[in-house]
Amino acid sequence: MQELERSVLGCDYGATSWTTRLEAERIASLLELRPMVRLLDIGAGSGWPALYLATISGCDVTLSDIPMSGLRAAVARASLDGLRARCQAVAADGAYLPFADASFDALSHSDVLCCMPDKLSMLRECRRVARSKARMAFSVIAIGRSIDGARRRAAIDSGPTFVVSEDYAILLDWSGWRVLERKEISNDFAVALKTRICGINARCDAITEVRGPEWVSESLERLQATLRAVEGGLLQREAFCAIAGE
Ligand SMILES: C[S@@+](CC[C@H](N)C(=O)[O-])C[C@H]1O[C@@H](n2cnc3c(N)ncnc32)[C@H](O)[C@@H]1O
Repeated sequence: MQELERSVLGCDYGATSWTTRLEAERIASLLELRPMVRLLDIGAGSGWPALYLATISGCDVTLSDIPMSGLRAAVARASLDGLRARCQAVAADGAYLPFADASFDALSHSDVLCCMPDKLSMLRECRRVARSKARMAFSVIAIGRSIDGARRRAAIDSGPTFVVSEDYAILLDWSGWRVLERKEISNDFAVALKTRICGINARCDAITEVRGPEWVSESLERLQATLRAVEGGLLQREAFCAIAGE
């Protein structure tokens, strides 16, 4: 599974987002990460890309997510990577962050808003805990523009659970963020989906042994449906960078 992840995303943290190593490196640059900068990564899972960002930039990082299992794996990985002194993990809902106002210089979240219902509350919480002029970089999977009727239904069925959303630029405006950059990264998403499909097929016997045949067939079916939706313009993946307003 680690080999598969490395072939698709270029990392081996147990990632569940579609953030590639190249994308993570771009996030580090957009957020101007460096030593002494305090980064908050929400929906951190088992540490991707937050721990990698701390490794390449020297910044301090707080990881937050709801399941303890992922955070435990992240803390173990932080120890292995020599990051324990610069890393803390906090179990929290992104819509109710347990941090004081203006605590962070930079924020990130990878494909998290499309996995949770209360997107505006999370963005408002991000703004509350962000210092003035702090930057936030994030990615989302969203319904393609001008998709309605039966095509919209198909997009919803093939996307993540909470794919339905107001336009993210509008949510950012309502929550006190100013968009610095908005980029559609659906082509990279399609490439990653295809690489994962090929990677699973190429390692089918070994993966079946570890995960079982149902996991393999269900994963392939879901990935192929998502790929069809992305190629047909029903779903898109976007990357945003925003700055905290005064
Ligand atoms: C696509 S995964 C990304 C995980 C990790 N950052 C990665 O790139 O592999 C989305 C993450 O969002 C988390 N999540 C979902 N709802 C959340 C919420 N309300 N508050 C915080 N995290 C949430 C999930 O637990 C999951 O770990």
